[in-house]
Amino acid sequence: MPTPSAPATPSAAQIAASFDLAHLPPAFYADPYPYYRALREHAPVKQLPDGACFLTRYDDILPVYRDPKAFSSDKKQEFGPKYGATPLFAHHTTSLVFNDPPLHTRVRRSILGALSQRHIAAMEPGLIALVDHLLEQLAERGTADLIDDFAAAIPVEVIGNLLRVPHAERGPLRAWSLAILGALEPVLTPERAAAGNAAVLEMLAYLKTLVDARRAHPGDAATDVLTRLIEGDDTGERLTETELLHQCIFLLNAGHETTTNLIGNALFALTEWPEERATLVARTGDDAYVRSAVEEFLRFESSNQLGNRITTRAVDVGGQVLPPDTRITLCIGAANRDPAQFPDPDRLDLAREPNRHLAFGFGIHACAGMNLARLEGRVALSRFLARFPDYALAAAPTRGGRARFRGFLHLPARVVG
Ligand code: HEM
Repeated sequence: MPTPSAPATPSAAQIAASFDLAHLPPAFYADPYPYYRALREHAPVKQLPDGACFLTRYDDILPVYRDPKAFSSDKKQEFGPKYGATPLFAHHTTSLVFNDPPLHTRVRRSILGALSQRHIAAMEPGLIALVDHLLEQLAERGTADLIDDFAAAIPVEVIGNLLRVPHAERGPLRAWSLAILGALEPVLTPERAAAGNAAVLEMLAYLKTLVDARRAHPGDAATDVLTRLIEGDDTGERLTETELLHQCIFLLNAGHETTTNLIGNALFALTEWPEERATLVARTGDDAYVRSAVEEFLRFESSNQLGNRITTRAVDVGGQVLPPDTRITLCIGAANRDPAQFPDPDRLDLAREPNRHLAFGFGIHACAGMNLARLEGRVALSRFLARFPDYALAAAPTRGGRARFRGFLHLPARVVG
């Protein structure tokens, strides 16, 4: 009788051949990097069964970001079948990130003005006070969830401050944000659709009251994003009420889970890389080193792993001509581990130089909040490590289980200091 043998481990070529974003195996969510490696090596311009195209090489992705005319961000065509005529469709097709110029240009200008380096630097003292307050609470507890009790508690306040959402009204923001962004996953389950649609409606109703109050009592248009969006740009052109509300929803969401995951992913990665951790703990007061470390965390475990575009004409991508209307997924997580760009890419190297990662995208849609996210990352991580150099995981962490936004739902830890 032949003895039953264990199923053979699939080769990289087989992994690449069978890869389908709509049917990801459970192992992918724990560690997507072997899949990305297989694709980069064997099918860098991967045709998915649904006709879309999945890119994994840095040198194929960067030109897509560079050419917004050939690669549109407008999602109306793609999201029509996905969402139907729903609040999620209205939201995602109105926000600046999923639009091309001219709407994109107008909205971006208004937002960027309030996120200049000077304005962000002015946020630092408040951020330090917030982080130190959270650390104090952690110290009193001894054990804590580094997501709920720390990483997620920071962006909700920062973004709340940016739009001047009153403190007492910030409670539901995180759950709304998780629900709306969760509906961007490659597969939209009925539960995700229902939660996302409900969150858009609740958020619209809430923001209407916030906008009405700000119209009645405008803030300083130099620093207040909402007042800037209400007043419109230098050309005098104003957003419609619907456009305005959807940009606010997007802003509240964009800086939320992404920044939470930057901090959470970094704290987890350090538990797996003790030598890098020891160096960072020893250099928390070295601003240049901490900045370099944050860039490496962004590269190593990019919190936003996937981006999307659609071709507007026939165009060459990685040596293949894609017809017009081809949907493309840009795999940021794979580009940021591409050995052709990053030597020894699976190693966490906090002093990595150069580090031209794509965690914030690139080009006209590059993250408008990147310097704010960097500041949050620097302050949160350096002060946490200075206070709790010996923190340790207290139980197995729970991953978020998402392909697009990579992070943890829970990170239980012992914090003594
Ligand atoms: C670690 C944290 C963050 C990451 C990894 C991240 C990542 C990204 C990426 C990859 C894009 C480009 C999307 C595309 O090209 O399709 C983007 C766009 C954007 N992000 Fe972030 N983001 C982060 C934090 C923030 C924060 C804190 C804010 C707001 C205060 C913000 C606001 C925006 C906005 C407004 C856009 C749209 C820009 C445009 O379309 O012109 N992000 N972000």
